Amino acid sequence: MYEWLNNLPKAELHLHLEGSLEPELMFRLAERNKIALPWKDVDTLRQAYAFNNLQEFLDLYYRGADVLRTEQDFYDLTWAYLQKCEEQDVVHTEPFFDPQTHTDRGVPFEAVLNGISAALADGRELLGISSGLILSFLRHLPEEEAFKTLEQALPYRNAFFAVGLDSSEVGHPPSKFQRVFDKARAEGLLTVAHAGEEGPPEYIWQALDLLKVSRIDHGVRAAEDPKLIARLIEEQIPLTVCPLSNTKLKVFSDMRQHNILDLLEQGVKVTVNSDDPAYFGGYVTENFMALHDSLGMTEEQARRLAQNSLDARLAY
Ligand code: HPA
Ligand code: ZN
Repeated sequence: MYEWLNNLPKAELHLHLEGSLEPELMFRLAERNKIALPWKDVDTLRQAYAFNNLQEFLDLYYRGADVLRTEQDFYDLTWAYLQKCEEQDVVHTEPFFDPQTHTDRGVPFEAVLNGISAALADGRELLGISSGLILSFLRHLPEEEAFKTLEQALPYRNAFFAVGLDSSEVGHPPSKFQRVFDKARAEGLLTVAHAGEEGPPEYIWQALDLLKVSRIDHGVRAAEDPKLIARLIEEQIPLTVCPLSNTKLKVFSDMRQHNILDLLEQGVKVTVNSDDPAYFGGYVTENFMALHDSLGMTEEQARRLAQNSLDARLAY
């Protein structure tokens, strides 16, 4: 079944490049940049990958991202991810990057964007993988900081096609970012947002009505609100669901509790994605495999999920 799922052509629509930083590459970059890591080796680091919630994960994820310093580092990170895409028949990807995670540490915005963009261009040319980049704002920071990031990015307007919203969800509703998303849309950018991962269905309503998003990232808590589910079906708004992430961060206690196939059968346009594959135990194929192993996903359901991911692409 693994091979069959692996060979199914698919798109990945929810992937944080910083979350694809494998422990081996983290140690290699730490050495290259002469940075001391608090873990003695790759195995010790992997053992630290046990989380009770989103925040515990984010604390480690931002700590790991500290090894990313140069344009070459961002190239290497992105290229390693694209090679995984090739292995898993991911024919199209729309990754996120978090500029504030890097510029707040003194890394130039240009180093981040140029390294990522060069790798995506090589991915197109050498691997035949199409892509579009999403600039994501950190929602735990003030909206003013997001405005500054957008201003910094606008000279490179053609290097990304959308803005997103990630990091600590609860207490940071989409409404906090309404003005900066208005500005992004006025510049012709599309919008997406993480909502309904740990946050309530209300945050999904806000993402739709205030941020005018084209997709919801995660969105699994929509299931608590029948009116919202009806709207998602009616408007065929895609959800970029990340099953392994949701179990690692205890959004669901167990994969057998996951609601993605229920949502699929109700007619919600759900897709399968890896979120932060280096931290959550696998890339897209492993996420599909988990649905097969724990939820009895059929081949027909897998085909529909893969087709949904291709249909929900926003960048060409
Ligand atoms: N949720 C919010 N922020 C994130 C995530 C996530 O799953 N991954 C990386 N940043
Ligand atoms: Zn995410």
